[in-house]
Amino acid sequence: MARLTGTELPSVRTSVPGPLSQARVDILARHECPAITARRARRAVSLGVASDDPIVWDEACGSVVSDVDGNRFVDLTSGFAVALVGHRHPAVVAAVESQQQKLLHAMGDAFPDATRIKLLEALARRCPGDLEVSILGLSGADAVDAAVKTAVLATGRRGVVAFEGGYHGLSLGTVALQGYKRAFVEPFEGVAHPAVSHLPWGCSPRQLEERLALGDVGLVLVEPIQGRGGVRLPPAGWLAAVGEVAREAGALVAHDAIQTGFGRTGHWWFGEAQGAIPDLLCVGKALGGGFPLSACVGTRAVMEAWGASRGEAIHTQTFLGHPVGCAAGVAVLTLLDQWDAPARAQELGAQIREAMSVPVRGAGVMLAAEVPDRAFATCRALLRVGYLCLPVGSDDRAVGIVPPLTLTDDQLAGFADAFDRARRSL
Ligand SMILES: Cc1ncc(COP(=O)(O)O)c(C=O)c1O
Repeated sequence: MARLTGTELPSVRTSVPGPLSQARVDILARHECPAITARRARRAVSLGVASDDPIVWDEACGSVVSDVDGNRFVDLTSGFAVALVGHRHPAVVAAVESQQQKLLHAMGDAFPDATRIKLLEALARRCPGDLEVSILGLSGADAVDAAVKTAVLATGRRGVVAFEGGYHGLSLGTVALQGYKRAFVEPFEGVAHPAVSHLPWGCSPRQLEERLALGDVGLVLVEPIQGRGGVRLPPAGWLAAVGEVAREAGALVAHDAIQTGFGRTGHWWFGEAQGAIPDLLCVGKALGGGFPLSACVGTRAVMEAWGASRGEAIHTQTFLGHPVGCAAGVAVLTLLDQWDAPARAQELGAQIREAMSVPVRGAGVMLAAEVPDRAFATCRALLRVGYLCLPVGSDDRAVGIVPPLTLTDDQLAGFADAFDRARRSL
């Protein structure tokens, strides 16, 4: 079987999705909760219009994904911003293989393993300021859940201030925190987090001060750059001002750096680059190099609010600190250091801006191409010629460009050209 090298250009030989993807999506539709994967084929086909079904992935390497029909796509999403070091990086695969020959599973809070300890040390070295004590998780939402719990324990207050347009996951603990789409939380009103208020993104420090003065807010939760909400940058100096106002009011600040972290923005930590170091830092996505791995990292002082273990952890999960994920995490952190990830992100980001013929906003390789309208249709058109992109924001006016750091010059040139053609074809 031909294997991808990661540097290929697109090659699309079937309709998109192709017949084999389509057949598998038919099975998916029978066995997966219908709310999960977009599927409009049957109705679309019966109406004689192009299907909106997804392609079914088969393999991925570097910046390239192939589907079950043998088509090849260049991935400008890095798989939801996960594959910062590229898909299936050989160093990550080697670390995973070596780990799984030895120990596939340890016992969370009961019996830790050596790889988890190595990851915790490496993470503490990489995090800014005094952030050095972690609660590991498997998803971004796990990390945000841990931040919310930590703030309750450390402040004795249950309320959270978050921001309109923010996204923090869809678990029961986080769904009410996101300010991206009301529809995500509406069905769960009353069972989701009961004490969240949303302020406008980039609101005046005064507005935050006034909300905090009403009391019961233990946590101010903010993405350093809003990702899913549209790759929206904060006003200059705003993150630092948010930190000052929150601390003044006795609330903790958590930066949700799940998408922005680990160099993607051209800085190891966009908050730190803006003069703002939080009390809690939530990380995930890129950290596991493709394995589910996340962390809420706090200062020792804040994390001590959890108290000492009493023999039975009050926060854990079966797969906490999964050895294979931790091995992948150590490999990712090593690679990002070796590459000087922020410098590479700045360099590649500048090349992307230069190559694109429309305005591009963002930082490093967390970017969005601004289109007057029809971002969704642009992404569909790009998919048909072999480029994976997702719309960002909720107004259909921005296409996310969040590629792996391994994107090649030729892949970028091909994408910029395809983007122009896609726009002209709409
Ligand atoms: C900023 C941010 N926070 C949290 C999450 C949730 O992460 P997960 O989907 O792994 O729970 C995401 C996912 O896109 C995110 O972008």
